Amino acid sequence: MTKNSGERASFGTKLGVILATAGSAVGLGNVWRFPYMAGENGGAVFIIIYVACVLLLGIPCMISEFIVGRHGQSNTARSFRMLANGTPWALIGYMGVLTGFLITGYYAVVSGWCLQYVFASLAGHLHGDPAYFQAYFSELSSDPVKPVLWTVIILFITHFIIEHGVRNGIERASKILMPTLFILLLLIVVASCLLPNGIKGIEFLFKPDFSKITEDVFLGALGQAFYSMSIAMGCLCTYASYFSKDTDLTRAASQIAIIDCVVAILAGLMIFPAAFSVGVSPDSGPSLIFITLPNVFQQAFASVPLIGYLVSLLFFVLLSLAALTSLMSLHEVSTAFFQEELHITRRRAALLVTVSTAFIGAFCSLSLGSYDGLRFFGQSLFEWFDFITGQIFLPVVGFLTCIFIGWYVDHRIVREEFTNRGELPGRYFHRYLFLVKYVCPLAILFIFLHQLGII
Ligand code: PHE
Repeated sequence: MTKNSGERASFGTKLGVILATAGSAVGLGNVWRFPYMAGENGGAVFIIIYVACVLLLGIPCMISEFIVGRHGQSNTARSFRMLANGTPWALIGYMGVLTGFLITGYYAVVSGWCLQYVFASLAGHLHGDPAYFQAYFSELSSDPVKPVLWTVIILFITHFIIEHGVRNGIERASKILMPTLFILLLLIVVASCLLPNGIKGIEFLFKPDFSKITEDVFLGALGQAFYSMSIAMGCLCTYASYFSKDTDLTRAASQIAIIDCVVAILAGLMIFPAAFSVGVSPDSGPSLIFITLPNVFQQAFASVPLIGYLVSLLFFVLLSLAALTSLMSLHEVSTAFFQEELHITRRRAALLVTVSTAFIGAFCSLSLGSYDGLRFFGQSLFEWFDFITGQIFLPVVGFLTCIFIGWYVDHRIVREEFTNRGELPGRYFHRYLFLVKYVCPLAILFIFLHQLGII
């Protein structure tokens, strides 16, 4: 177990770096948000714009966070502080940690639902007509006890992994969880695409509908790219502090981005063919995965109920794994912060985070029930967390990080990290810098103002 003193923890292998960081990126955002957004926003057109956003904007932002983290070899707040030289720029790091911390509890609630659905499928509860699935989900999400319990359970599973440290915990778990996730995904994609009329779903996803291109599609794709790549939550910075000095940051960011895009597209191929084969229109948000899909799987495989049962079970296992690896990265942001800033052991820091985020999660979960004390200005605490972290903190931290790296930090330091102190040719350095200085901040500013309804 890593102590505060002595040598700092690090990932042991290059594969570990990629799988752990891709584990952070691949999450609920890929499985439910991406397919739905793509379906609603012109299918192939959205996918093309999304991939362009990932390549042109996501990768440079990811590299910037990597640079700060690997240079600092510390938690996100300290890493920013080291480059800020006593100026208020250091606040970006604290904001990143705070965003990561706040979102952990909220993300754990949704992850807890996934876990509960694993058990519900196992127990054969996911069986009935569409109204039943609707009632099952609303009962589950508003229940005062069960979802809180599942939130706490998934947080303790995360805690157990985090407590084992970077190599024995995060890296080892990612090396098992990520390949499993990928195999499950492929299995369900094959089952779904082989369904009668499945081809219609594939067409829906890949047939470009150019009439749908509007500024909303662009901004939607951009927001989705940032969220999906775990940008601005402190996760990338914290993980990068465990990279070795010879990790090629550009290459790592590109590989992670490719994995993230591939998983998102495969998730679309898992959902749409099945939905189209039974003529159900795919909904948005939580209702897609928790209400529509169990019903779709049940109907689509009605002739062989065992396969329907298995597909549904495997789907929720996959969802829980995707959520768990993202939750690990969120938990680690605050664990590393408390461990290093309060000079306590990793174990204590992890416990502090688990307990405090369990409280946040419990309140978020309760706010979805009949408990009126947890509603503010007409919105539940759950919705407030979603809004504040995703729509305010994420763009603000992302924007400031680009300005910080592009305009404030000495470019010699940036180049040193980018080229591993001159060992790599750094062919793309100028292009990277151009994107980080001008293109990324402007793009983020647009999403931000658009989300707030200002433009
Ligand atoms: N990238 C994750 C997803 O796609 C969400 C996430 C954001 C996880 C930020 C960690 C940090 O679901």
